[in-house]
Amino acid sequence: MPTPSMEDYLERIYKLIDEKGYARVSDIAEGLEVHPSSVTKMIQKLDKDEYLIYEKYRGLVLTSKGKKVGKRLVDRHALLEEFLEMIGVQEENIYKDVEGIEHHLSWDSITCIETLVEYFRRDKSRLEELSNIHNELLSGS
Ligand code: CO
Repeated sequence: MPTPSMEDYLERIYKLIDEKGYARVSDIAEGLEVHPSSVTKMIQKLDKDEYLIYEKYRGLVLTSKGKKVGKRLVDRHALLEEFLEMIGVQEENIYKDVEGIEHHLSWDSITCIETLVEYFRRDKSRLEELSNIHNELLSGS
């Protein structure tokens, strides 16, 4: 199992490759707000654990294990964003909150959240009902 920090990197690398076709150390560092030397260090660790292959001149390629885990992490992030949005969390809090919780939930909890999201997707009136209760509580009645 990757550590939370390794998960952040894998998630970021997977997204960069998915969107741009490649992941440069400078892009990874910028996205995670860390120093490039920390990125190089982590890349070596991810290489050692067989999530990716790093060659100085060819750059970095995810292994099939790296792709599988990376996709799972990106999907988990998207699911949690959808979940927070559904339950009425304000837009400006969503990204930061997901970054704060995503590495600390068990896959058991993730599956249960996925089930709840699916429950709301299946019948929009359920979402309306939830939103009505939310507004009721917010207005203090
Ligand atoms: Co994330």
